Amino acid sequence: MEALALRGVNKWFGRFHVLRDLSLSVARGERIVICGPSGSGKSTLIRCINGLEAHQSGQIFVEGTELTRDLKTIDRVRRETGMVFQHFNLFPHLTVLENCMLAPVHVRKLSRAEAEAAAMELLSRVRIPEQAHKYPAQLSGGQQQRAAIARALCMKPRIMLFDEPTSALDPEMVQEVLETMIALADEGMTMLCVSHEMGFARAVADRVIFMDEGRIVEDSPPRSFFSAPQHERARLFLSRIPGG
Ligand SMILES: Nc1ncnc2c1ncn2[C@@H]1O[C@H](COP(=O)(O)OP(=O)(O)OP(=O)(O)O)[C@@H](O)[C@H]1O
Ligand SMILES: [Mg+2]
Repeated sequence: MEALALRGVNKWFGRFHVLRDLSLSVARGERIVICGPSGSGKSTLIRCINGLEAHQSGQIFVEGTELTRDLKTIDRVRRETGMVFQHFNLFPHLTVLENCMLAPVHVRKLSRAEAEAAAMELLSRVRIPEQAHKYPAQLSGGQQQRAAIARALCMKPRIMLFDEPTSALDPEMVQEVLETMIALADEGMTMLCVSHEMGFARAVADRVIFMDEGRIVEDSPPRSFFSAPQHERARLFLSRIPGG
């Protein structure tokens, strides 16, 4: 079974047609990097996959579950998908450890002890165990993003979705977050990542997807995407970004 399948998905914001007849199939363990110009629908695509936005036609299957408006279904899909945002979205009034324990205790119904042990293990995996008792504002951007990744992993998702996880970071912190993501990729996690970090795409992506005006206009292995992009818009895009 595929980890993810989209068939003819359309979405409108009012009269604006943001996703146009989009189809995509992602196998388990596959790593996809999504890039494309601003406004092409990358965030909207990611948000539709975990039910943060509703699509109006076509089908989205996440680990075999079709995403409908049914709340139980949305719940199930959210449990299968971990989401990491550009601006971390940690709860500011909770420590890093409490951020990581919240959903496991309230949604997965783990005991506090179990949730704490699991959270500490993940904070070690993203190499910030010493930050566990601090509040998000006391961490660097890179540390906050690694905490956000640990928090998503605490729900044991089968798919990780990233929406420009490094674009709000100072340059010296980008690498530590990318290293965390590369480690996750090496463990076989299915990943969809909106990113313009082309070095990362080269290193870990099985496929690079280029979006333009709500469509997937290119879907190729990084090697061919970077050496011979098929689409004019993709060529222009690559010529404008560092490492492209
Ligand atoms: N909630 C919304 N209501 C109305 N229009 C929206 C909404 N969210 C996004 N849009 C519009 O849909 C289009 C696609 O937005 P989206 O955020 O998916 O683009 P993106 O590819 O992620 O761009 P960026 O690279 O700037 O993050 C844009 O034109 C945007 O203005
Ligand atoms: Mg976006």
